[in-house]
Amino acid sequence: MPALKVLALAGLSVLGAVSALQDSLQRPLVNVTHAPAIKPKPLVDSEALQASISGDKLLARAEELYEIAKLGEDEYNHPTRVIGSEGHLGTLGYIYTALARLGDYYTLSKQLFPAVTGNVFEFRLVLGHDVPESAQAMGLTPATKARQPERGDLLLVANDGCNPDDYPPTARGKILLIKRGSCSFGAKSERAGHAGAIAAVIYNSDRGPLSGTLGDPSAFHVATFGLSGDDAAPVVAKLQSGARVDASAYIDATVDRITTTNIIAQTTAGDPDHCVMLGGHSDSVAEGPGINDDGSGTLALLEVATQLAGFAVHNCVRFAWWSAEEEGLLGSDYYVAALTPRENRRIRVFMDYDMLASPNFAYQVYDARNDANPVGSQELRDLYVDWYAAQGLNHTFIAFDGRSDYDAFIRNGIPGGGIATGAEGLKTEAEAGVFGGTAGLEYDPCYHQLCDDVANLNATAWELNTKLVAHSVATFARSFEGFPERTDEGIQVAKRGAYSRKTKYRGSKLFI
Ligand SMILES: *[C@@H]1O[C@H](CO)[C@@H](O)[C@H](O)[C@H]1NC(C)=O
Ligand SMILES: *[C@@H]1O[C@H](CO)[C@@H](O)[C@H](O)[C@H]1NC(C)=O
Ligand SMILES: *[C@@H]1O[C@H](CO)[C@@H](O)[C@H](O)[C@H]1NC(C)=O
Ligand SMILES: [Zn+2]
Repeated sequence: MPALKVLALAGLSVLGAVSALQDSLQRPLVNVTHAPAIKPKPLVDSEALQASISGDKLLARAEELYEIAKLGEDEYNHPTRVIGSEGHLGTLGYIYTALARLGDYYTLSKQLFPAVTGNVFEFRLVLGHDVPESAQAMGLTPATKARQPERGDLLLVANDGCNPDDYPPTARGKILLIKRGSCSFGAKSERAGHAGAIAAVIYNSDRGPLSGTLGDPSAFHVATFGLSGDDAAPVVAKLQSGARVDASAYIDATVDRITTTNIIAQTTAGDPDHCVMLGGHSDSVAEGPGINDDGSGTLALLEVATQLAGFAVHNCVRFAWWSAEEEGLLGSDYYVAALTPRENRRIRVFMDYDMLASPNFAYQVYDARNDANPVGSQELRDLYVDWYAAQGLNHTFIAFDGRSDYDAFIRNGIPGGGIATGAEGLKTEAEAGVFGGTAGLEYDPCYHQLCDDVANLNATAWELNTKLVAHSVATFARSFEGFPERTDEGIQVAKRGAYSRKTKYRGSKLFI
């Protein structure tokens, strides 16, 4: 694949050849014409590949992944696999090593790309005499000057703070209070910086708290907080009445530019012009070890890739372990942007596997329809639906709105879809009736938290969904019969915006 830094496994295959040679020298010469042929691998078969998946093997891998997350403790004081951490580097090493053991069944590549990582160590916001409880430092915020508290009057910015004219001419040296809406948090922080402010506080347009990210760093970003609408209301009223409010802002944080890595494994066999591609993300958030998000998808893919190596394939199978999903889908975005039109067309379908083992799970299928997404997305959706039905299981549809790594694929004309078991949403009564578990509780109460550890996995859901991953791979590795062809027109339609981002999220990050 062009634009990828291919790390050849030449060393490995040379070693293999040498040991084969030694073996043959020790054995008597064989009668070549009648030597038993190397037993050909059977063509991949859905039932057989599914049968190779075991919950115990998955859980053993989860234990290993948790140990790897502990490598992040030195820097973060708790287990994490966030990009840039030792826990993430360890994860990449674990995935790569497991694949390399499969010999030349896969061609492995590492795709390096730039990313940004932020770490907030401490923060404090004081408005008048109050320390509002809802105040949070935004993701990728810079620190206050010299990582020290700074004092200044609090000034209210007009309108949404998206226009330079919204900013008072007296903003220099002040702390600015800005309403959420219309443009990104990053744009507001940048405008505040241009106006000479020392910090910015963005308050929610509804009552709840506001937790978001500034996104791509800018030299003009200032230390930026999110604040709930409830906490902001009395302060806004006071400022509007002309009263003076003094404030103090403190954030100790770092923003670092790093290089991180997508890992891609493609079967050496199979028609390279017709690839089934699937991915999960190798990184976690900074707050925890990410064993369900997305250790469950990462390890499901690794186990399916391992078991698939016992089979022959007709079509190429390409696995991806994306990096920096949690920073805003950076790895998958970078990968798709680097595809030439020809390489783009070789990917017949992309399947996203992000969170497969939520403790209070639902069997969720992305509601990917052909009228709003590249043609083929709906056929993939129906493959999942049919499989659950064949097991006598129910499913729910969830929005296919760009919150995971399929986003770049469908925006670039590649049909996509996937399954999940639920994140921070609440399980409904109806779902509890169908799937068991607890209504009114999050699907994953440990979503993006320290407790997303091995105990946070439901092994039943994980094993079952990994069998479905195996089914999806086996189906398309055998044949794309009945599955829509890729066309140039599909790419054009996608680029014209038949699908557009309908969300304020990039991955899990709120940015507007
Ligand atoms: C190889 O095997 C065939 C069939 O058994 C036999 O006819 C032939 O003579 C053998 N050749 C040698 C070199 O052993
Ligand atoms: C799935 O759930 C729907 C809605 O609750 C219900 O109508 C349907 O019968 C269920 N199917 C199965 C197989 O449980
Ligand atoms: C997984 O979920 C099923 C169904 O709700 C439940 O019976 C089982 O006890 C759960 N297992 C674990 C390990 O949480
Ligand atoms: Zn995720």
